[in-house]
Amino acid sequence: MSNQLLKGKRGIIFGALDEKSIAWITAIKCFEQGASIVLTNAPVALRKGDINVLAEKVQAPVIPCDVSLTEDMENLIDKSVEHFGGPVDFILHSIGMSLNVRKGRHYTDLDYGFNAKTLDISAISFHRLLATCMKKDAIRDWGSVVGLSYIAAQRVFPDYNEMADAKALLESVARSFGYHYGVKKHVRVNTISQSPTRTTAGSGVKGFDGFITYAEKMSPLGNASAEDCANYCVVMFSDLTRMVTMQNLFHDGGFSFTGVTGEVIEKM
Ligand code: NAI
Repeated sequence: MSNQLLKGKRGIIFGALDEKSIAWITAIKCFEQGASIVLTNAPVALRKGDINVLAEKVQAPVIPCDVSLTEDMENLIDKSVEHFGGPVDFILHSIGMSLNVRKGRHYTDLDYGFNAKTLDISAISFHRLLATCMKKDAIRDWGSVVGLSYIAAQRVFPDYNEMADAKALLESVARSFGYHYGVKKHVRVNTISQSPTRTTAGSGVKGFDGFITYAEKMSPLGNASAEDCANYCVVMFSDLTRMVTMQNLFHDGGFSFTGVTGEVIEKM
C-alpha cells in the first residue's frame, strides 16, 4: 500500500547488493512511496550485475562509489545533484564490511591494517558522506540521513568481532555530525539498529543461525524483517519525523529492552 509519503522527494541509496539487501527492499519501498532515487554501490559489487534489475524496477541511475575513496564520494554527490537538478532529500547508508571477519581473524588478534579498512568502510564513510554533502550543499533543508547499525555497538556479541567497534563509531558519527548538520541546515541524522537479518552481510557473522534464532526468541515481537526495516526507513525519510535527529533507533521487536523471555526460560 502506498500513501505517497515520499512524493516529490529525491534520495540516494547505498548498498543494494542483491534482493535480500535491506537497501534493495528500501529502494523499492521508497519508489512505491513516490520518491526518485539514485542507486550506488562499490564497483566490485556492481560487477555482480544484480543491481541493474533493481535499477530498472525503480527507474534509477546507478553511480559507482567505493565509500572509502573521497574522490568516488565527491563524484557520486556531484552526479546525483546533476541528475536531480538540485539537492537530495534523503540518503540511506546501508554498508558494512569486516576484513578481519572475512579473513577469519579473532577479535583478540586483529590485523590492524584490515581493522583500519573495516572502520573506514563501515563507519568513517558515514562521516565522509555527510562532510561531502555539507561542503557541496547537496542535502535540502530538513533532509534526512539514515545509517544502519546493530546492538553489538552497546552489548557484547563475541562473534560480531570488530564490527561492534565499527557500529559504535557509526552511531557516534551520526550523533556528532547530526548536531552540526542540524544547526546548519536542519538536516537530521540517525542510525537504525536492526534485528539480525538474513542477508550477505548478516550471514558473514559466525554462528549466524544460532544468533538469529536466539534474537527471535528474545524479542517480544520477534525479529524485524528487512521489509520492516525498509518501512521504518521510509518513515524516517518522510516529513512525519522532522524533529528526530542524533538518535540510535532500535528496530528489533523489543530485543534491546528485554532481559529474558518465557521461550528462552523454557529452553533452559
Ligand atoms: P548486504 O551485504 O546486502 O549489504 C552490505 C553492502 O555494503 C553491500 O551492498 C556491499 O556491496 C556494500 N559495501 C561493502 N563495501 C563497500 C564499499 N567499500 N563501498 C560501497 N559499498 C560497500 O547486507 P545488509 O544486511 O543489507 O547490510 C546493510 C547494512 O545493515 C549494513 O550496515 C549492516 O551492517 C547493517 N545491519 C545488518 C544486519 C543483518 O543482520 N543483516 C543487522 C543490523 C545491521
